[in-house]
Amino acid sequence: MARTWNAPALARHKARDGLCPLAMVTAYDAPGARIADAAGVDLILVGDSVANVVLGYESTMQVTIEDLAHHTAAVARAKPTPFVVADLPWGTYHTGPSDAVRAAVRLVRAGAQAVKLEGGRNRVAVIEAIIDAEIPVMGHIGLTPQSVLAMGGHRVQGKSVDGAKHLVDAGRTLAEAGVFSIVVEGVPTAVGRAVTDTVPVPTIGIGAGPHTDGQVLVFHDLLGIEDRLRPRFVRRYAELGTVATEAMRAYAEDVRARRFPTEAESYAASEDLSAALEVY
Ligand code: KIV
Repeated sequence: MARTWNAPALARHKARDGLCPLAMVTAYDAPGARIADAAGVDLILVGDSVANVVLGYESTMQVTIEDLAHHTAAVARAKPTPFVVADLPWGTYHTGPSDAVRAAVRLVRAGAQAVKLEGGRNRVAVIEAIIDAEIPVMGHIGLTPQSVLAMGGHRVQGKSVDGAKHLVDAGRTLAEAGVFSIVVEGVPTAVGRAVTDTVPVPTIGIGAGPHTDGQVLVFHDLLGIEDRLRPRFVRRYAELGTVATEAMRAYAEDVRARRFPTEAESYAASEDLSAALEVY
């Protein structure tokens, strides 16, 4: 039976206390949420990766608060046991604390139990404002996809001593600002470990090595549906893209060969109706 989480309980969950790492996965709709629920994961992230893996955009910077609210509501309608976190899209919190609170409220009304946003020291004011509105916040540091233009691409972060110290400092600052957890993305294993050892709240890694307090993967990567990019940190636990393509090819062949549908897959008419239709 999957455990029911809340933000304060998550905030205390450090693997160094002998606890199991947290399992988080993205989901963007009700069927995805039901699968994550049945699998017993701890957290669902309605990620802005919906841009790339569902909506066909090149970058997460294309999705809007309307998109995220729409997908968060779809996840919430499945009433999943895992704790639901929704991403604040780029542009919704960069314009100041009151815009950030408004966007966070929108996602909570759609069914999120917390929001996630990217950045370090530069986000303290918005994090404090959102927490002041009674909404738990998850941080996100390291490779932050909403900074792709500023970073000049998706690059592993914290590779230099200064870069690594900057990330450890960012983690500490976010924890002091009150986040209940921090996603650490795309950093060397030693940096994932240093941030994890430094902060009192759980870190959830993606491409950050095995020492974080939890891991997150994108639904479509984990299940082998997304084929265009295969980052090193993705482990594909299934090849559902191949299975789905083969199933659909078999269906199309059956339709063309008149093997689908059979009598058993059709509705029978009464004898009277059949007789009346004989004239046609
Ligand atoms: O949107 C997303 O999928 C994410 C994860 C990569 C952490 O932010």
